[in-house]
Amino acid sequence: MHNMLIVNSSPRSNSVSRRLTAYFADEWKAKHPDTRVIERDLTVDSPPFVSEAWIQASYTPPAQRTPAQQQALQLSDALIEELMAADVIVLGVPMHNFSIPASLKAWFDLVTRAGKTFSYSDKGPKGLLPAGKQVVAIVSRGGVFDEGPAPASSDFQVPYLRHMLSFLGLEEVTVIAADRQGFGAEVAQQSVDNAVQKLSALAAHLPSTAALAA
Ligand SMILES: Cc1cc2nc3c(=O)[nH]c(=O)nc-3n(C[C@H](O)[C@H](O)[C@H](O)COP(=O)(O)O)c2cc1C
Repeated sequence: MHNMLIVNSSPRSNSVSRRLTAYFADEWKAKHPDTRVIERDLTVDSPPFVSEAWIQASYTPPAQRTPAQQQALQLSDALIEELMAADVIVLGVPMHNFSIPASLKAWFDLVTRAGKTFSYSDKGPKGLLPAGKQVVAIVSRGGVFDEGPAPASSDFQVPYLRHMLSFLGLEEVTVIAADRQGFGAEVAQQSVDNAVQKLSALAAHLPSTAALAA
């Protein structure tokens, strides 16, 4: 039995990243029919930004939280539960203004909780999500950042994703890019086709947690 969490963040109905997360989920399910899928569509149900009440609640020890503080953390708790339960996490991430969409940033802010998904000690930060989860981050963008005129230093999307996922303890991360979406229909389609091929191969070969545990 697998648990797949899909997090989509494109506001566009004809979205490249949405089509690719759906494609990967279908490929994966064809190989692993016993997969339970949960989808979080961050544009239907946009997560709120963290507030002062949220911050105070999250830094109050659980046993001392008031009912109002428990309520303030309810969505954050639910999103973290989804992450804890998932063994395959699929992120659909369009590039917006060189970074990730604001809704996905809000999601990261809610799942990044001291004492729950990360901790600090004299040895530095430690991600607290259990090891072995596979993350497939499917990024779509108008330009291209690993060659050509746009410098890699202007890519605040993939480096941010990699850093945050690792900070939370998610180290098994594969990034698949459908870039060049602004370079005309033919080039854009080639890039999507390329991503589709990589996603098929990934669905076929990605180690399952069962295989990892064996
Ligand atoms: C609001 C907005 C901002 C964007 N900013 C960038 C950008 O900074 N760099 C880039 O290469 N493409 C940018 N794009 C292009 C998108 O990344 C591209 O269209 C991608 O396919 C969007 O993913 P989606 O099809 O899943 O929505 C932007 C698009 C939108 C709608």
